[in-house]
Amino acid sequence: MKLRKFYINTIGCQMNVYDSAQMASVLKQKNYQPCDSFLTADLIIVNTCAIREKAEQKVYSFLGRLTPLKKKNPGLKVVVAGCVAQQQGVRITERFPQVDLVLGTHMVHRLPEFLEAIEAAAQPLIETGMTKTIGEPASAIEKQASGHDVSAFVTIMRGCDNYCTYCVVPYVRGREISRRPESILGEIRALVAVGVREITLLGQNVNSYGVKEGMTSFPELLTMVNDIEGLERIRFVTSHPKDLSDDLVSAFGNLEKLCNHIHLPVQSGSDRILKKMNRRYTRSEYLEKIDKLRRVSPDIAITTDFIVGFPGETDADFLDTLTLMETVQYDTAFAFEYSDRHEAPASRFSDKISGPVKNERVQRLFALQKEITRKNRRLLEGKVFSALIEGESRNQLKKSGTSAAVQLAGRTSENRIVNFDFPCHWGIDFDLLKGQTVNVEIVDVLSNSLRGVLTRRQIEYLKSKGGHSHVA
Ligand code: SAH
Ligand code: SF4
Ligand code: F3S
Repeated sequence: MKLRKFYINTIGCQMNVYDSAQMASVLKQKNYQPCDSFLTADLIIVNTCAIREKAEQKVYSFLGRLTPLKKKNPGLKVVVAGCVAQQQGVRITERFPQVDLVLGTHMVHRLPEFLEAIEAAAQPLIETGMTKTIGEPASAIEKQASGHDVSAFVTIMRGCDNYCTYCVVPYVRGREISRRPESILGEIRALVAVGVREITLLGQNVNSYGVKEGMTSFPELLTMVNDIEGLERIRFVTSHPKDLSDDLVSAFGNLEKLCNHIHLPVQSGSDRILKKMNRRYTRSEYLEKIDKLRRVSPDIAITTDFIVGFPGETDADFLDTLTLMETVQYDTAFAFEYSDRHEAPASRFSDKISGPVKNERVQRLFALQKEITRKNRRLLEGKVFSALIEGESRNQLKKSGTSAAVQLAGRTSENRIVNFDFPCHWGIDFDLLKGQTVNVEIVDVLSNSLRGVLTRRQIEYLKSKGGHSHVA
């Protein structure tokens, strides 16, 4: 059978990254191989995101670019997967006749069978049915074949039952459902066996893992994952503040593999807006949880998401958001301008905020966070962190030619990137270093990264071991 080439364009959150890895994995087992450019592919998959209008527009502009390609190569197959596929269904093929398959968010594992079906079909296929069970993932198999990622995502649950009034996720990902712990643990063990050292557990609200099913709770699951030999680090996203339990807070003190970072999206600092958003916590309840976390782990890195310009947001509400940002002192923060999603109830709320006002507010929020980040990161200078080496730094990859040192990128437990030089004359194979944890002292603070140097002790240790080392 002819080997065919596929290209996946992934837009959106880690869930989509995970699903794209699943699709790549099943395709490789079916005589497809990945290629670097969609221009030379026989199969193009765009895995889409519907969270904001901009993300959705990105999908349509990409699909538009495929029209001439399909004319040139009628054998080319185009698949639209993910959240826009689920949301728009047949409207996609009506607007873009070049699309052969619309694959909903619950249908990812059935991709090969639908690909076979479109070979024979005269009409495009629309497969957006939703299921009540989660299929077994294929990513571990894929990693076994490739085996060069230090860090991997593992989905532990699907969907969301929270219905924040601005959000499309419950409509495009369906009801919340948790995977069985044995299945999750099996996947992580398989990943560790092929060299993965860090895993990020994924769910829209990991705090409610297992609750509906009456299974293991999320802190219990973390304890089980913590016991997996060979795994070094555990992360998770996302945590809904209303469900952040005391047990989970304690896990930051008890579980040595759990990283010293939490992403805790607040969305707004105003109680009035939080209520309209249906977030089901108040500003003071949120701040109380932040205090609890810092009591257990004083230097924990806390990051967040904000939405600015939610319908009805006044200057006073926005000021509450600014003061909350100042109070919490986030490590970093995302801020999004509110975007109407027609399924979500907020799209029908009155008092919409104009584009320029939203933009002005989001800029003010960015500016304040930039100041906070810069001020707090200065305090890291001279401190030593253990960094998991992910590979060459971005600067290094941009550089050409040879030099005396190669710049490597590691990630601290707090989820900060630290770049440091590694001299070439030590004769240590860089591939051996990937996935290792080393001690790095911070010497400089840049806008998006930290610069460090290996500690003297670490250098001696690495040299003595010829590169086979962990923290000295
Ligand atoms: N489950 C996660 C977030 C998923 S969406 C949680 O509960 O926090 C990621 C982020 O996108 C959200 O935190 C929110 O800040 C933003 N977002 C979601 N819907 C949006 C909308 N309609 N307009 C602007 N930003 C939105
Ligand atoms: Fe969306 Fe809210 Fe669910 Fe997060 S918790 S996915 S913001 S509905
Ligand atoms: Fe986007 Fe779907 Fe994720 S809407 S943010 S890709 S769950």
